[in-house]
Amino acid sequence: MALCPGWRAFALFPFNRCGVLGKAVRSTGLPLFPWGHCPWRGTGSFLDPEMKAFLEEHTEVTRSGSLTPEIQLRLLTPRCKFWWERADLWPHSDPYWAIYWPGGQALSRYLLDNPDIVRGRSVLDIGSGCGATAIAAKMSGALRILANDIDPIAGMAITLNCELNRLNPFPVLTKNILDLAQDKWDLVLLGDMFYDEDLADSLHQWLKNCCQAHRTRVLIGDPGRPQFSGHSIQHQLLKVAEYSLPEPTRQENNGLTTSTVWDFQP
Ligand SMILES: C[S@@+](CC[C@H](N)C(=O)[O-])C[C@H]1O[C@@H](n2cnc3c(N)ncnc32)[C@H](O)[C@@H]1O
Repeated sequence: MALCPGWRAFALFPFNRCGVLGKAVRSTGLPLFPWGHCPWRGTGSFLDPEMKAFLEEHTEVTRSGSLTPEIQLRLLTPRCKFWWERADLWPHSDPYWAIYWPGGQALSRYLLDNPDIVRGRSVLDIGSGCGATAIAAKMSGALRILANDIDPIAGMAITLNCELNRLNPFPVLTKNILDLAQDKWDLVLLGDMFYDEDLADSLHQWLKNCCQAHRTRVLIGDPGRPQFSGHSIQHQLLKVAEYSLPEPTRQENNGLTTSTVWDFQP
């Protein structure tokens, strides 16, 4: 559906207000990647020069307006052409990775303020997007990190964002990890991943299995999306921190005002 006048509408009304984003994920559960062959699919940090140039042209480096000014990110901002341009002119899948979502912001802030939670641990960031939460984990001393996102372009954005923050890029897995055998992780992170009911159900089941098999700790950042607040996972959560969102994030997220970090305790 291409009814939105541009990315400004996309940013103001994320997730189903205009239908574009929700559709992108729900239609197949796999990335809407326009080319059959994706050289950087899988784990790794291969940067296709053309795509790198595209990302650099159409994003702005920023550290303002979020809960974690210590992290620089390439994001879609009002100074970018596609903030204002018609969304259907964007040549790739919807750029979730170009927004630093409120759930991820809270989770990243929490890790930076409480490095003991990640120091020396193996960490998996599911639905990493721009990679900020995985970057926060790395800055806080995580031993091993895997960022996972089904969008291969997110994989490239994460690599660029690592470089921006003078970090050696960590591996990025661009397969659907929910379909793979479970590895052992000390800590699994999910920032703003409960925005679709089917995805929320799949994640809930996967996380329960993960905790049961490996005693993994799971932290979830969420700004109170209905698909999360109304989900049965609510009975298995302990609130660990709540943050007031910065004004720019509030404006871009249709009036959300806070974001919370939850400890999943099945
Ligand atoms: C709302 S964004 C959150 C990004 C980031 N965690 C943040 O808070 O800024 C959701 C991300 O999850 C990714 N995603 C959706 N379904 C996924 C799945 N099954 N496995 C991994 N990533 C997924 C999307 O591509 C998108 O980048």
